[in-house]
Amino acid sequence: MKKGFLWGGATAANQFEGAWNKGGKGPSTADMMTGGTHTTPRRITPVLEEGTYYPSHEAVDFYGHYKEDIKMLAEMGFKVFRMSINWSRIYPNGDDLEPNEEGLTFYDNVFAELEKYNIEPLVTISHYETPFGLTKKFNGWASREVIDCYVRYCETIFNRYKDKVKYWLTFNEINVLTIPGTAFSGAGILLDEKNEVEFSADHDNEQLRFQALHHQFVASARAVKIGHSINPNFKIGCMIAYMCNYPHTCNPDDMLLTQHRTQINNMFCSDVQVRGYYPGYAKRYLKDNGIKIKMEVDDEATLKDGCVDFYSFSYYMSLVVSHNPQEDGVGGNLMGGIRNPYLKTSDWGWQIDPKGLRYTLNEIYDRYQIPVMIVENGLGAVDIVEEDGSVNDDYRIEYLRDHIIQMKEAVKDGVDLMGYTMWGCIDLVSVSTGEMKKRYGFIYVDKDNEGKGTLQRKPKKSFYWYKKVIKTNGENLE
Ligand code: BG6
Repeated sequence: MKKGFLWGGATAANQFEGAWNKGGKGPSTADMMTGGTHTTPRRITPVLEEGTYYPSHEAVDFYGHYKEDIKMLAEMGFKVFRMSINWSRIYPNGDDLEPNEEGLTFYDNVFAELEKYNIEPLVTISHYETPFGLTKKFNGWASREVIDCYVRYCETIFNRYKDKVKYWLTFNEINVLTIPGTAFSGAGILLDEKNEVEFSADHDNEQLRFQALHHQFVASARAVKIGHSINPNFKIGCMIAYMCNYPHTCNPDDMLLTQHRTQINNMFCSDVQVRGYYPGYAKRYLKDNGIKIKMEVDDEATLKDGCVDFYSFSYYMSLVVSHNPQEDGVGGNLMGGIRNPYLKTSDWGWQIDPKGLRYTLNEIYDRYQIPVMIVENGLGAVDIVEEDGSVNDDYRIEYLRDHIIQMKEAVKDGVDLMGYTMWGCIDLVSVSTGEMKKRYGFIYVDKDNEGKGTLQRKPKKSFYWYKKVIKTNGENLE
């Protein structure tokens, strides 16, 4: 890989940090979500229930373990560490006028620790953890008021960490809002337009979701502009959950549907964030579906003025698209699809497709011609701790190796790739199921689905493998 390639790993505060009500932190949307499993969905409880388990509350307590954790990441040779700042640790209610100093100090300490080992932080500003206060007061991102709250938060952290953090992502997987059932986790929306119906996974309102998305676009663009004025060296990126779609057959209807899904679910958001305007196909989609986006006069200029510096994305799997609803289905990250007979699936039914990563990288770079970064990729699997305490996660090594091989192919194809951060480098809570059992890490954390365990950390076999990969800059993948 090129000199200075950013090898590392990724996390998000709500799945990793814990200390949900310590140090002045307020509750976030994630803190109101119960645990679940592969088959039992997580529940949103607007009022916390006594005796119910909320996985984000302690998560794996990075808050109390950050020194030990960063030391282990340094031992692997990390060049970059992706983490999020928990918005409600800085602004406990979301709309407070003054930030919480104790929260700011916590991240001062984290960044100082990273600096000690020359690890570059990559900070996600909002990763599925909108302050719950904004849900209660404004119905989350459904209201335009939240833009100002977000921008105030960005200004605070940009000013405070301007000499410590260079790489920023405005919203994690902003495109989730193009998918039904994501309004609460993606935008803190709990009520319908009339403030009557409470949302659940099976209740959805497309109008509100797309309006919230517009607010996030404007907020992101304003943040990019302010960020660059605070420190012109900042590199601020978009972050897309990339869904690599293949047509099920060569039937033109399958082809057109695949293109449509790719446009709406993948490209719409990055077209706005990279190019600075709503593309024609998105305008048509909104019109055809009776969705009316309320825009203010300056919004179009704001979007044009706040284009991102780089494109980042998560990649776990590929999907097969068919216009025939009868086809055999499989699960997936945010969206399922048709079973692909050429691919194996993970323990959680996600279709493993390393070559899809090469295909995706080429699609993205050809379209935008700006630097690209893979900020999430990895395998959620059940790990077994052997009697001698070791975790021999050869399946994880195989998954990562196969993806890195394809990533290298894409670089040979000409893609300008900045870095690679493997998802969940230290075991953390799964966002879709709330489980601990779905592990991604190079580092095992002793904690189970019920929240029991010592929180003790230990390296898995993949830890030593990745250390070698980084040391040889991706040359030695054995
Ligand atoms: C991405 C999210 O969609 O997928 C992460 O940005 C998440 O927050 C990751 O953890 C893996 O999904 P899951 O459901 O296995 O945790």
